[in-house]
Amino acid sequence: LANVDLENESTLAIVKPDGISGNYTSSIRKIILESGFSVQKELTVHLDEDSVRSFYDEHSTKSFFPSLVKYMTSGPVLIMVLQKVNAIADWRALIGPTDALKAKVTHPHSIRAMCGQDLGRNCVHGSDSHDSAEREISFFFTKTYPGIEP
Ligand code: PPS
Repeated sequence: LANVDLENESTLAIVKPDGISGNYTSSIRKIILESGFSVQKELTVHLDEDSVRSFYDEHSTKSFFPSLVKYMTSGPVLIMVLQKVNAIADWRALIGPTDALKAKVTHPHSIRAMCGQDLGRNCVHGSDSHDSAEREISFFFTKTYPGIEP
């Protein structure tokens, strides 16, 4: 075998308000750890509208944006930095398709099939690329995010 140097990668995971209120946090954490991720950082916070608008800025012109903001501010969320080799793609594979209704049919063992309800309320988030992982991790885990005590 060639000298393959597999590097650890970090991605941002969010258990959304319906995941928390539906008591899926411990099941999701178990899946995370059993899948070989380590939880580097975590934060439970009730996001305000400005934070959600800024986090999802790339979707600000979409028709679903107001409902996305309402949903993501409806209760506390659990935000985690997950680390493992190939973390970004592997976490996206674990959570399954965006539309939780479709996930229940096509990816019945995915996290969204387990705890999501539909396209809007899909119970978890995962960074979709290296660039978004970097942006999203620094969005929450810097000293400038007001949700974190100094
Ligand atoms: S897009 O248009 O393909 O870029 O959007 P997509 O990647 O599918 O989704 C981006 C995030 O918006 C959420 N979303 C919605 N929220 C509410 N209502 C509707 N109809 C809706 N459609 C998409 C979706 O869950 C994605 O959130 P994250 O947290 O990134 O998974």
